[in-house]
Amino acid sequence: MKHLLYLSLSLLIAFSAHADDDDEMGEVVEKVEEVNNLRESLVKAVPENPTGKTFKAVCAPVGKKAKSIAKEEGWNFKQVSHKYRNPNNKAQGLELEAIQKMQKDQSLMGYWIEKGNERHYFRRITVRKDCLACHGPKNQRPEFVTKKYPKDKAYGFKQGDLRGLYHVWYNK
Ligand code: HEC
Repeated sequence: MKHLLYLSLSLLIAFSAHADDDDEMGEVVEKVEEVNNLRESLVKAVPENPTGKTFKAVCAPVGKKAKSIAKEEGWNFKQVSHKYRNPNNKAQGLELEAIQKMQKDQSLMGYWIEKGNERHYFRRITVRKDCLACHGPKNQRPEFVTKKYPKDKAYGFKQGDLRGLYHVWYNK
């Protein structure tokens, strides 16, 4: 009887721990979608020939939002790319592996991995037509981009390309 009680207690604990994990992973996915939706909505307001002013209203606030969510939730949350504009967003290590994986498999939207004590989530960022105003042909980038980011690599994209990814990670 005692054994049975222990067994059911430990099962209960195991299940509730599992449910907590699911909750946190669900929340990560939700927040990443929120950040992605922010970019998609901000980009709609960009004119054909964006200036320094309109730039402030697109990808920098997306990075800031990711940072503030990370702080609130106790996660790490970045937007990174193999072809980056801001050197702080340079993809490395696991991120480069994830980018290669997503380039090979166009249908792969996102996935989770566990590494030691950490849980990582990667989510694809796709180039849309609206993005090309600033991430399209090299010689068509707005002046504020070429001035502010002399080492820019985030151009030459085409609609549908993999632009980079969102990466969230935390300790289990
Ligand atoms: C008005 C110009 C503009 C438009 C339009 C724009 N971006 Fe950006 N993007 C930028 C700038 C400037 C940065 C660098 C921001 C920073 O310093 O953090 C950037 C950075 C990024 C980054 C972070 C990686 C890096 O290269 O630094 C991603 C990912 C990104 N953009 C994706 C997109 C996507 C997807 C779209 C379309 C939905 C888009 N951008 C539309 C100007 C733009």
